[in-house]
Amino acid sequence: MPKPRLYSGMQPSSGSLHLGNYIGALQQWRGMQDEYDAFFSIVDLHAITVAQDPKVLREQVRTLAAQYIAGGIDPDRSCLYVQSHVAAHAQLQWLLSTITGFGEASRMTQFKDKTAKGGQETASVGLFTYPILMAADILLYDTEVVPVGDDQKQHVELTRDLAERFNKRFGSTFTVPKPVILANGARIYDLQSPASKMSKSADNDKGVVWLLDEPARTAKKIRSAVTDTEGSIRADRAEKPGVTNLLDILSAMTGTPVPGLEAEFAGQGYGVFKTAVADAVVAELAPVRERTLELLADPAELDRLLAANAERAAAVADATLGRALEAMGL
Ligand code: ADP
Ligand code: NA
Repeated sequence: MPKPRLYSGMQPSSGSLHLGNYIGALQQWRGMQDEYDAFFSIVDLHAITVAQDPKVLREQVRTLAAQYIAGGIDPDRSCLYVQSHVAAHAQLQWLLSTITGFGEASRMTQFKDKTAKGGQETASVGLFTYPILMAADILLYDTEVVPVGDDQKQHVELTRDLAERFNKRFGSTFTVPKPVILANGARIYDLQSPASKMSKSADNDKGVVWLLDEPARTAKKIRSAVTDTEGSIRADRAEKPGVTNLLDILSAMTGTPVPGLEAEFAGQGYGVFKTAVADAVVAELAPVRERTLELLADPAELDRLLAANAERAAAVADATLGRALEAMGL
C-alpha cells in the first residue's frame, strides 16, 4: 500500500525559526516522514501577502530550507520545495476562489485578527484570500493529512468544504484532507510572558529562543525565563505557566514525559532546573544551527536541491490541476 500523503509548510517570514516552530512543527514533521509520503513547502506566496523586501525574502527562503534540512527533513525522502516554484498553486487558487463564497471567506478569523490593529482598508486582497491559496496548496497533492497548529484548523476546514463542494459540483477530483492537531505539549510559550505563545512577532526578544541564536545567548534566555515564587517544579498551566512551559520544552528536548521530569526534579530549585533546560536546548539546537550554517555556505547546492524537489512537486501538482481544469470545462 502506498503511504498516505501529508502536506505542511511554513512561511519564510523570519530569518531564523524559533523554538516554538522547532518543537511545534519541525520536530513533529521529522517524526512523520516514515509513516507518510510527505510534502513540506516553503510558502513564499503566502509570505508576500504582507510587505516584503525581495532580497531579504530570497535569503529567508534559503535560510528556511537549510533549517528544514538541518532539523531533520530529508529531501531525498520527503519533498521539500518552494511554493512559488510550482505554478499550479496560484492557478488552482484562482479556480477555487470562484467557488468560495465572499461571506465564507470573510468568516476566517485569522484575517480578522491580522487586520484588527492595522485596519482592513490597508490589508491586501491577497491576505484576505490567503486561506484559498492554502486550500490549493493542500489539494494539489491529494493530501490526506495536514499537521497544523489549532490556529490553522479553520483553514483546513475551509479546504475540506471547498474540496467537497468542488467534487459535488464537478465530479470527484480532490482528496478531502483531515487536520491533525498537534499535542498540547507541542505548544510553546514566550519565556518572558508565558501566557502568550512564542512568536516571531513578540515585542521582547528575550522571550524568544531562535534556532540560529548563539548557544550562550540561548542558555541565557532560558535561565532568565519568568517563573513564579512557589519554588516547586510541577506542571500547572493556569497557576504556573512559566514552569509548565519549561517542563514542556525539556520534555520535547529529552523525550521524557512531563510526569517523569516532575519526579526527577522534585525538591530541586529553579536554578538547577533552568540550567538543565538550557543545557538540553543547547545540546539539541547547537548541531542544528551548525548544520544550517554549513548548508547556507553553499547556496548553489541548496538552490539545486530545491529545484530538483520542485520538479517532483510539480509532477504531482500539475496532474491534479489538469483534472480540476478538465472537470470545470476549461
Ligand atoms: P509564528 O507564530 O511565529 O508567526 P507561524 O505562524 O509562521 O509562526 O508558524 C509556523 C509553524 O510553527 C506552524 O506549524 C505553527 O503551528 C508552529 N508554531 C508557531 N509558533 C508556535 C509555538 N509557539 N508553539 C508551537 N508551535 C508553533
Ligand atoms: Na501564527
